Amino acid sequence: MNSGHEQTACEDCHRDAPGTLRQQLQANARYLLGRREAPVEFGKLPVGNQDCLACHERPFDRHPVFRFNEPRFSEARKALSPQLCASCHREHSGQRVTAQAGYCAECHADIDLSEDPVRPTHAQLSADGLWATCLGCHDFHGNHSFDPPTEFDARIDAREIEAYLKGGPSPYPLPVRAPAKTERTSDDNEGAR
Ligand code: HEC
Ligand code: HEC
Ligand code: HEC
Ligand code: HEC
Ligand code: HEC
Repeated sequence: MNSGHEQTACEDCHRDAPGTLRQQLQANARYLLGRREAPVEFGKLPVGNQDCLACHERPFDRHPVFRFNEPRFSEARKALSPQLCASCHREHSGQRVTAQAGYCAECHADIDLSEDPVRPTHAQLSADGLWATCLGCHDFHGNHSFDPPTEFDARIDAREIEAYLKGGPSPYPLPVRAPAKTERTSDDNEGAR
C-alpha cells in the first residue's frame, strides 16, 4: 500500500460493479450478440477519482483534478494525465507521490508575476529550469497551512521533499487543513462515476 493507506480496506477503493455476476454475464452476452451498446464491468469497477475523493474531498484544492479536463490542458493531459489522482499517486507502490518531479513546467512554464516578491523571480526560475525548487515553497494541493517564503534560501531542501514524496515524514506543517476520512460510507459519491 502507499503511505497513509496501511489501514485502508481494499473495498474502500475497489468497489463492486453493479449487479450480480449472473446479470453481468447476461449483459455482456447481449453486448457480444450486438443487442447492447456497451459491455458492463465484471466484478470490480476500475478505481477512479471519485473513490479517492470519497475520503479526500478538499473544497479549496488549488489543483482540483476536474479542472484539467478543460481544452487548454490538452498538451498537459498527453504528458501527465493530471485529470486523474492515480497519475501522480499510483497505488500499490509504497510511496506517497509517484509522479516524477519537473511536471510543474507542463502548466507553469510561462510564469511571470507582475510584482514578484521572490529573487530569483519566478520567470527566472522557469528560464533556468529550476522546477525542483517549486515544492520547496509551495505544497501542491494547498492542504498545509504554509505561507511560501520569499527568501530563496528559506525554501525546504529538495532532498527533504524527495524523501516526503517517497513516503517519508512531512516537511510541511501538520496537521493538514482537511484530514482524510478513515472510512468510506457505502454510498459516498455513488453515481458520480
Ligand atoms: C487507496 C485505494 C486502494 C486501495 C485501498 C487498494 N487498492 Fe488496489 N488498486 C488501486 C488503484 C488506483 C489501482 C490501479 C488500477 C485500477 O485503476 O484499478 C489498483 C490496482 C490493483 C490491482 C491490479 C488490478 C488491475 O486491474 O490491474 C489489484 C489486484 C489490487 N489493486 C488489489 C488490491 C487489494 C487486494 C487491496 C487490499 C489489500 C487493494 N488493492 C487496496 C487502489 C487501491
Ligand atoms: C477509505 C478512505 C480512503 C480512500 C478511499 C482513499 N484514501 Fe488516501 N488516505 C486515507 C487515510 C485515512 C490516509 C492517512 C491520512 C493521514 O495519515 O493523516 C490517506 C493517505 C493518503 C495519502 C498520503 C497523505 C499524507 O498525509 O501524506 C495520499 C497521497 C492519498 N491518501 C491519496 C489517495 C488516492 C490517490 C486515493 C484514490 C486512489 C485514495 N487516497 C483513497 C483514506 C483514504
Ligand atoms: C499532478 C500531480 C498530482 C495529482 C493529479 C494529484 N496529486 Fe495529490 N499530491 C501531489 C503532490 C506533488 C503532493 C505532495 C505535496 C503536498 O503535500 O501538497 C500531493 C499530496 C497529496 C496528499 C497529501 C497531502 C494533503 O494534501 O493532504 C493527498 C492526500 C493527495 N495528494 C491526494 C490526492 C487526490 C485525492 C488527488 C485527486 C483528487 C490528487 N492527490 C491528485 C501531486 C498530485
Ligand atoms: C496540469 C496543470 C498544472 C500543473 C501540472 C501544475 N499546476 Fe499549478 N496551477 C495550475 C492552474 C490552472 C492554477 C490556477 C491558476 C489560476 O487560477 O490562474 C495553478 C495554480 C498554482 C499556484 C497558485 C495557487 C493559488 O492559490 O494562488 C501555485 C503555487 C502552483 N500552481 C504551484 C504548482 C507547482 C509547485 C506545481 C508542480 C508541483 C504545479 N503547480 C503544477 C495548473 C497546474
Ligand atoms: C523561495 C520560495 C519560492 C519558490 C522557490 C517558488 N515560489 Fe512561487 N511563490 C512564492 C511566493 C512568496 C509567492 C507570492 C505569494 C503568494 O502568492 O502566495 C509565490 C507565488 C506563486 C504563484 C501564484 C501566483 C499568483 O498569481 O498568485 C504560483 C503559480 C507559483 N508561485 C508557482 C511557482 C512555481 C511553479 C515554482 C517553481 C518554478 C515556484 N512558484 C517557486 C515563493 C516561491
